[in-house]
Amino acid sequence: MRVAGRLAAEVLDYITPFVKPGVTTGELDRLCHEYMVDVQGTVPAPLNYAPPGYKPYPKSICTSVNHQVCHGIPGEKILKNGDIVNLDITVIKDGFHGDTSRMFVAGEPSIAARRLCEVTHECMWIGIDQVRPGATIGDIGFAIQRHAEAAGFSIVREFCGHGIGRRFHEEPQILHYGRPGTGERIEAGMIFTVEPMVNAGRREIRELADGWTIVTKDHSLSAQWEHTVLVTETGHEVLTVSENMPARPKVLARSA
Ligand code: MF3
Ligand code: CO
Ligand code: CO
Repeated sequence: MRVAGRLAAEVLDYITPFVKPGVTTGELDRLCHEYMVDVQGTVPAPLNYAPPGYKPYPKSICTSVNHQVCHGIPGEKILKNGDIVNLDITVIKDGFHGDTSRMFVAGEPSIAARRLCEVTHECMWIGIDQVRPGATIGDIGFAIQRHAEAAGFSIVREFCGHGIGRRFHEEPQILHYGRPGTGERIEAGMIFTVEPMVNAGRREIRELADGWTIVTKDHSLSAQWEHTVLVTETGHEVLTVSENMPARPKVLARSA
């Protein structure tokens, strides 16, 4: 899982210089696909992924632009100056999954877009800070929700973090909202993702006719960051690490 996590993060490092005004999301998908398959020898987990009730996902990464919340399908869309985009990478290496996503800006973001991306990054890290044996899943969600709502933003409820390993999505579900001390107890050896989706406006979402892309109902901007995390005896270890991964914000107080 350490190897798979690092490889997923390294795809994001690789694609970073290509995320510029003028590039299409389809081109980003093609570049990532080639890097995974030809350079890393990994399998892009999204390609043909078909959970119950879904048609097979047609591409190798997810590209969610502006008001797209998650699961955006790469295609002809051309990024323009100021667009924000989440690139979500899941690789399979030797049967194990690594899952991570970051926000990128094409060119210069508006102040509002930059703040949404920053606060969402803080939300992910504040959630990760809660991860240790004896804490509960609700502790993670509560910390994330409190930080997002204090900034005037809302948390998407319909999608959550997840256990991950030989399968892409496993138990437990990691909600990004909740109440402290509630839910399943966290145990050493668990591996799951923390991947809050934060909307600048209302939390309600809608699914597009393609059967995958999720957008905000009010068309407000949405951001998401994701890491895969191992619970250790003393706390946690983030597995989706790489050389150029954006650092945990230093301004955050540890824990809650
Ligand atoms: N990577 C997403 C997650 O974090 C899931 C994408 S499913 C796909 O759980 F089929 F759209 F790729
Ligand atoms: Co995930
Ligand atoms: Co993901």
